[in-house]
Amino acid sequence: MASPLPPTPVGVRVRVPAKINLALKVGGRRPDGYHPLATVYHAVSLYDEVEAAWAEPDEFAVAVSGEGAAQVPLDDSNLALRAARLLARTHGPYDSLGAHLTIRKAIPVAAGLAGGSSNGAAALLACSVLWDLDVSSDGLRELAAELGSDVPFALLGGTALGSGRGEEVVPALARGTYHWVLAFGHHGLSTPAVYGRFDELTPDAGAPEVPDDLMNALRSGDPALLGAALSNDLQDAALDLQPRLRQVLEAGLEYGAVGAVVSGSGPTCAFLAANEAAAIDLTVALSADGVCREVRRVSGPVVGARVVA
Ligand code: C5P
Repeated sequence: MASPLPPTPVGVRVRVPAKINLALKVGGRRPDGYHPLATVYHAVSLYDEVEAAWAEPDEFAVAVSGEGAAQVPLDDSNLALRAARLLARTHGPYDSLGAHLTIRKAIPVAAGLAGGSSNGAAALLACSVLWDLDVSSDGLRELAAELGSDVPFALLGGTALGSGRGEEVVPALARGTYHWVLAFGHHGLSTPAVYGRFDELTPDAGAPEVPDDLMNALRSGDPALLGAALSNDLQDAALDLQPRLRQVLEAGLEYGAVGAVVSGSGPTCAFLAANEAAAIDLTVALSADGVCREVRRVSGPVVGARVVA
């Protein structure tokens, strides 16, 4: 009888998108420190890649290159590393599993685009395939929720409603492809700091609900309606911490965007264009203006974390 095949020496590569929030409604702080959310996530075509390769048992390491790599921690606080360890501990013969992770970043760090969360989601998927584990998509989603509020959406992708602290996600009824321009800031924003400022600015935050006009706009597929319905309860807090973002939002609208919103806890500003040609014009105009660090044109929705050949 043939001996069992040794583990595959090549790595498993997963591509994972950034997210923006088309609506982010935030309630009052819960006793556990998190905030109840009613949000609409939207995955856009800006991708990080996470590759997992076999390592010695109980050896876990990560290397990072690309956009903002110097700001990504390489210790146990790295979300991709935590994801690999959590998966091995809960679904594998822990003592015999290890992984070397390589992250290639295009999603900026601390930008409100769920870059770190997406790396955690990608590592879960990459390691589950690398180690050939018997774990269902529900099983992966549970681990994702344990890792962070935005991690389950990074597995799912598309356009989705998020509730709880953001970790409960269901696909939303949405039509069409949207053309976005993202303006990256010079400095990141700390998510806890933005939520903290939100608490100070909004002491009487009520129960969050996704606005009907946004859901209707998504069903219509009309960018003008969607642009008018974008909203973010964290925007004032982000603007308070980085007042310069006001100029960025104004510039995008001046150059023809049909909608403008700070993404998540910021500081990335997301501009919706009427169509692809308008998005190209807006990208050129914002780049030339120099009001932000970098401008990227993306489209959405796109699928969540997927293994690539
Ligand atoms: O879930 P995650 O670890 O990504 O959250 C990072 C931080 O963002 C939390 O520690 C908390 O300060 C804040 N947060 C929150 N309410 C949420 C999600 C995140 O206050 N629903």
